[in-house]
Amino acid sequence: MAKHTASDSDEPKPKPSLKSLKRSLRLYKYIKPYRGAFVLGMVFLFLSSAANLAFPKFLGELVSASTQPDFLKQLGRIALLLAGLLVVQAVFSYFRILLFVRVAEKGLAALRQATYSKMLRLPMAFFDHKRVGELTSRIASDINVLQDVFTSTLAEFIRQLIIIVGGIGLLLYTSPRLTLIMLASLPPVVLLSVAFGRFIRRYAKDVSKMMAEATTVVEETLQGMASVKSYANEHFELGRYTSRTNEVAKTAIRGGVFRAGFASFVILGLFGAVVLVIWQGSLDIARGAMDAGDLFSFVLYSSFIGGSIGGMADVYARLQRASGATEELLDIFDQPEEPIRLEPPGARDRSLKGAVVFEEVRFAYPSRPEFEVIQGLDVAIEPGTRVALVGSSGAGKTTLMALLLRFYTPISGRIRIDGRDLNNWDLSGFRAQVALVPQEVLLFGGSILENIRYGKPGASEAEVVEAAKRAYAHDFIVAFPEGYETTVGERGIQLSGGQRQRIAIARALLNDPALLLLDEATSALDSESEYYVQSALEALMKDRTSLVIAHRLSTIRNADRILVLDHGQIVEDGAPDALLSRPESRFKALWERQLANE
Ligand SMILES: Nc1ncnc2c1ncn2[C@@H]1O[C@H](COP(=O)(O)OP(=O)(O)OP(=O)(O)O)[C@@H](O)[C@H]1O
Ligand SMILES: [Mg+2]
Repeated sequence: MAKHTASDSDEPKPKPSLKSLKRSLRLYKYIKPYRGAFVLGMVFLFLSSAANLAFPKFLGELVSASTQPDFLKQLGRIALLLAGLLVVQAVFSYFRILLFVRVAEKGLAALRQATYSKMLRLPMAFFDHKRVGELTSRIASDINVLQDVFTSTLAEFIRQLIIIVGGIGLLLYTSPRLTLIMLASLPPVVLLSVAFGRFIRRYAKDVSKMMAEATTVVEETLQGMASVKSYANEHFELGRYTSRTNEVAKTAIRGGVFRAGFASFVILGLFGAVVLVIWQGSLDIARGAMDAGDLFSFVLYSSFIGGSIGGMADVYARLQRASGATEELLDIFDQPEEPIRLEPPGARDRSLKGAVVFEEVRFAYPSRPEFEVIQGLDVAIEPGTRVALVGSSGAGKTTLMALLLRFYTPISGRIRIDGRDLNNWDLSGFRAQVALVPQEVLLFGGSILENIRYGKPGASEAEVVEAAKRAYAHDFIVAFPEGYETTVGERGIQLSGGQRQRIAIARALLNDPALLLLDEATSALDSESEYYVQSALEALMKDRTSLVIAHRLSTIRNADRILVLDHGQIVEDGAPDALLSRPESRFKALWERQLANE
């Protein structure tokens, strides 16, 4: 939590880039297994760049040869050398790209997997204040930026560096005086590039943040299309997106001023120098101090160097963007995680009996620490009983279930399961023995079969059908032309609320949990659907500890025990009939209100 606010507020002050570079080196471990191929690729890169550097030299010789007496022989020799150079360069470049792509793709796949598995391990509190779009952009676009770095930017950077350093070396060798003239314009360019790079980086980071925000709008809209349409709020969504994307454009354009300015500066400074050099060189030739071929290769080198320095600006900006992306990624890696096991479970632990005890539990959501949702709650639930939780909206019913699943940790007090502190249970092992049927059932994209099987991966088709039958779902499933293979979810057919609930119940039945947490849907179903869902729920709750946030009268009626929750405390506790016979019962009031509604 504290970590989080820190990473949000430090945004305006740019981090020292040496520190962030050091931090990015942590990502090296994903490349490390392929370092052999990487180094070999570097060697090829080095060789092909060096071969590239030899071109102006030979071209100059070609020009000089034209004035020699045996020029035909010389011409043949140089042309052959040049052709050889081309072949060498072609071969090296081919393998260099092949190797780099291989290393980058493998390394990035590992990084993607590590990021995703990190996300899967993060606690619920993390997802409360992170929006889906923001997180998906971490795993998609941030990693794409890195991909760009490893497949091309890094190679370009090194090639340009070789050309600049090697080129200047060769120039000094050819004509120190001319080189000094040319170099007189280099230091200011370099100094300015650092300053420009700073601005460029800041803007690039802002832009990618804003772009993620804009994408979030699209995602939220697409997910909640029914709400958007029903409120006819298309104009509102369009407005939100328009203003976000305009912000992106505005910021990127402001950043573009610096990039453009940088490019102009490079052109004026460097190519101005080239003109100066040719003018000086022509004077030297006239004086007989230099031959035309040397000047020719000198000019070629200068434009190579100029081009490389210009290209450096772009590479620099891209590296800065990558460093921004890396920071964002590393921020995720630095989040504390839950002790979840990600390896496939062995034989499932079935030891849970379902005795649940809350002792003086207090809880506030991390995002709202000053507001205690659960205020000193004490209750003991016997294994095998059916407990109905009732209470007004916002009383803390769903929160109680979240605590039971260890989505969050109480700020004080204890939760004990079968006598053992919940924190001492193996988290994945414990959760695997608990099933949650949420208020709003969200099906995964896939077939009905796969959706039910989610409750017990590896279950046979017969088991799935059996569970569907017990959940009163089999009949409607086989009525679809494709039966159990019918695709549901985002790209599939839409199921009705009652059908979705029964799929969720079948999933839970297949899971056969020791402890069932059921957040009953508030939405009323038609009486036929209601009948099936009710029967399915009966089958599900039979012979296990179930904690039900109850809205249906029948669920409440059939419960062994009612807990009335109010402001995070249990205010009434007892069998339904006992509570109903009390004169001042809150439960009775709730019950009567419910009766009036049905
Ligand atoms: N993730 C969260 N972060 C911060 N506060 C939350 C969060 N979830 C719920 N709350 C707050 O906690 C309180 C209890 O919410 P909870 O969802 O437990 O109520 P509930 O009893 O399940 O209500 P309902 O019957 O409407 O589902 C509410 O005031 C709610 O605003
Ligand atoms: Mg709730």
